Amino acid sequence: MENDKKMDITQHRIGVFDSGIGGLSVLKELLKTFPEAQYYYFSDDAHAPYGPKSDEFITDRSFKITQELVDQGPELIVVACNTATAASIDALRAHYPNMTFVGVEPYLNAIYKETTPAKMVVLTTESTGKSERFKRLKERLDPIGFIDNFSLKNLARMVEEFYYDPGLEAQFDRELELELAPLQGKNYTHAILGCTHYPLVRNKIEMILNLKTLSPCPYVAQRVRELSVKDNEVLSPADHEFYFYSSSKPGWTKKDRDNFLGPFKK
Ligand code: DGL
Repeated sequence: MENDKKMDITQHRIGVFDSGIGGLSVLKELLKTFPEAQYYYFSDDAHAPYGPKSDEFITDRSFKITQELVDQGPELIVVACNTATAASIDALRAHYPNMTFVGVEPYLNAIYKETTPAKMVVLTTESTGKSERFKRLKERLDPIGFIDNFSLKNLARMVEEFYYDPGLEAQFDRELELELAPLQGKNYTHAILGCTHYPLVRNKIEMILNLKTLSPCPYVAQRVRELSVKDNEVLSPADHEFYFYSSSKPGWTKKDRDNFLGPFKK
């Protein structure tokens, strides 16, 4: 029959979550690399930042958010938060064996990719810096301790508070200088951004510290596409919007794909 010859068009649904807006740096790459998918982004802004919180708290939130996302019918969930990945991804995978989870981890592989002489520091939240998962990753990829490790106590919170308010940019810049002051004079050439909030202000970090920043977000997006799309699959055309849920204003709303980053964007 004529209809049997019609090709199936696949609509992929991807859930994404973060403690707040940091995961938008991952979503931005996903929209470039895999624009055909429909995205459901959960911002846990009522509970941000996660960095100073306990593993139990972060895991409890990750489970509640994952259930809300699962209810939207995604085939894959991106834990677009280094802190939640470190604290909870193993437990999430064990509890939802039929769901594919992709996490975000500090991109320490950068030491094998940079060809120029480098002095590197990885910037994380307090929680990620203390986590067993991060320590194992660091021992595996950087056993001789080539990369320094520095936890930024306030930066995720600051991005959360200031990012959408252009009137506060000068204040943000002053606070960022203070936050980064301990890293001055160390002659770092590269900073690995181990928190998804940081790529949102990477141009400012690069200017203040006079170095290059490295982010895992494009690799995460590539991995999501590889895991989702089969060879020869016909994909649905891209949507103009994505779904957004903020825990401080519960309920799903739609946001424009071309216009969701704050005024500090590069
Ligand atoms: N954006 C998150 C991360 O990648 C969480 C930051 C925070 O809430 O402290 O670690």
